[in-house]
Amino acid sequence: MSVYTLVTGATGGLGGAFVKELARRGQPLYLTGRNQEKLAALKEELLHSHPALPVKIAVCDLSNEASRRVLYAAFERENVKFCRLVYAAGADIQKPFEEYTEEKLTFQARANFEGAVSVARAVLARGEGKQELLFVGSVSGLYPMPYFALYSAAKKALWQFAAALRVELKGRANVTCVQPGAIPTREDVKENIRTQGLWGKLAALPPETVAKKSLAAVAKNRRSPVIGFWNKLMHGSTALLPLSWKMKFIAKRWSKTRKDAF
Ligand SMILES: NC(=O)c1ccc[n+]([C@@H]2O[C@H](COP(=O)([O-])OP(=O)(O)OC[C@H]3O[C@@H](n4cnc5c(N)ncnc54)[C@H](OP(=O)(O)O)[C@@H]3O)[C@@H](O)[C@H]2O)c1
Repeated sequence: MSVYTLVTGATGGLGGAFVKELARRGQPLYLTGRNQEKLAALKEELLHSHPALPVKIAVCDLSNEASRRVLYAAFERENVKFCRLVYAAGADIQKPFEEYTEEKLTFQARANFEGAVSVARAVLARGEGKQELLFVGSVSGLYPMPYFALYSAAKKALWQFAAALRVELKGRANVTCVQPGAIPTREDVKENIRTQGLWGKLAALPPETVAKKSLAAVAKNRRSPVIGFWNKLMHGSTALLPLSWKMKFIAKRWSKTRKDAF
């Protein structure tokens, strides 16, 4: 019987890079996203390059409890077992907090945090052997970020959850929450990186590199590595600066960009 890696956000830029890397390694894949057509196309593409690879797909809105229950019922029905979770789903709305609607607020908080916690429980319950739980955090979770406040808080919560879970599961599962910087995935992210000039160029890493480094990190049971030399350097060299200075700098820079998601 095949033992699967569950990849959430499989239809996204970083999720897709995880999928391709895991497929290259011959890892049976259980892929989720919200769009059936995108998932079906991804499966077809994978089977074209890896005809013998077991690939399952399932639509799920991870911000919705009822939708998650449908996914978990499918796990039961198919009696699927998991050796690994890659939680790459996420939504990065960025704007002043007062401009949020209630709907967007709950969507972002749930997709980025509640969904991850819920899926982790489901994957643990259907574990086979020693498992790996990999959560995609962000350097945005390292400091409170004005104008990106909810995203940054949700990523921090994810980091904190993963760090605690890692201790609870010692010896039974590796648990890692990686903190990547900018990744040129969607067009709006690429544009954002471009507008940051040299800074953006230095901090950004291709999704393929982030996926490889993240899988290596969870294999080594690292707790919460910052991904990329420049991001590590920035984090390390600013560690002793007062938080108020860092937030002032962040507020100035981040108040200039706005983006939405659903
Ligand atoms: N790009 C960056 O610069 C960057 C930097 C640091 C961290 N990250 C993190 O990396 C992860 C992937 O980002 P990305 O740049 O690859 O974004 P992306 O291309 O927009 O992909 C996001 C993925 O998440 C899925 N998703 C969003 N909301 C969902 C929901 N409610 N239920 C289920 N799936 C949902 C999307 O599914 P659909 O296809 O169905 O919409 C898509 O597959 C995110 O967690 C993000 O926070 C990104």
